[in-house]
Amino acid sequence: MNHFIAPSVLAADFANLQRDIEMVNGSAADWFHVDIMDGVFVPNISFGFPVVEAIRKHAGKPLDVHLMITDPDRYIGAFAKAGASVITVHYEACTHLHRTLAAIKEMGCKAGVALNPHTPVHVLEDIIEDADLVLIMSVNPGFGGQKFIQRTYDKLKALKAMAAGRNDNLLIEVDGGVNISNAGQLISCGANVLVAGNFVFTADDPKAVISEMKEVMPGLMK
Ligand code: DX5
Ligand code: ZN
Repeated sequence: MNHFIAPSVLAADFANLQRDIEMVNGSAADWFHVDIMDGVFVPNISFGFPVVEAIRKHAGKPLDVHLMITDPDRYIGAFAKAGASVITVHYEACTHLHRTLAAIKEMGCKAGVALNPHTPVHVLEDIIEDADLVLIMSVNPGFGGQKFIQRTYDKLKALKAMAAGRNDNLLIEVDGGVNISNAGQLISCGANVLVAGNFVFTADDPKAVISEMKEVMPGLMK
């Protein structure tokens, strides 16, 4: 399977949001990654429904909504209505994850579960068949532009091994500090969706950067 590129709108220029959305529409990117932060689960607040709806209005590609919020069950219906195609909740924020993933699927969305850097992959052992996507955080969630955590490579390999034969279509997403230098190795280790915020939006030529990431080949395994 070819890998997907999901530019993170968090790093866009919010005063020129439509311009940045059109840039992604006209690029080789596959999804829009949309980061929702509530100031409780993570120490930052990003944006809410009016902004997601505005993105949806102009976006020509699916919205991949990453909920960094406590008690995400309360808002699944609203994010589905706002136009999400993928809804990812944090393992650390869900008491009844199986029920939450089922609720996301009932809304017609792909259901994802995200793991913080400190959360081991093995906690997904009994839910791996029920997720459409697993997001491995390669930074502590809350902010763009942070340094990539090297341990991520081993977590991706462990997840890939766990999913083998049990969920071969699993989307394995990596989020935080992704750039052209680590993309190849991330793909070798099992990632098939790469999120990139600052690396794309601070580039002189964001479309060219997206194309480069889209075409990157698996790197040498460590
Ligand atoms: C971090 C967010 C990321 C962030 C990635 O909490 O979940 O999606 O936007 O930004 P970069 O690529 O700049 O690390
Ligand atoms: Zn994210």
